[in-house]
Amino acid sequence: MITVHFVSSGGTGTALQCRTGQSLMQAAVAADVAGIAADCGGMMTCGTCHVFVREPYAGRLPPVFAEEHAMLEFTAVPRQANSRLSCQIDLTDALDGLTVDLPDTQY
Ligand code: FES
Repeated sequence: MITVHFVSSGGTGTALQCRTGQSLMQAAVAADVAGIAADCGGMMTCGTCHVFVREPYAGRLPPVFAEEHAMLEFTAVPRQANSRLSCQIDLTDALDGLTVDLPDTQY
């Protein structure tokens, strides 16, 4: 189990204990974290699982591949340098303490 922190646009934090081997989006949806819609269920066609990954964790993630890169151009809140789709973040032990900021909206 690892700890993951979600911070709402208003600054409210939510800490979750998460199993590794699932995506960040799956962990958020299972715990009903407000601010992660994930309408496509991880098929990378909706862009409603957008998060901003804080350092040092952003640097620990695999690079953004072409499909994620393309989908990040269609998020409701404009993409930033640390934008990722949470459905593409696989939780591993190296991400214990992962902290992500949530956008104001996913629509
Ligand atoms: S859940 Fe739809 S793009 Fe991530």
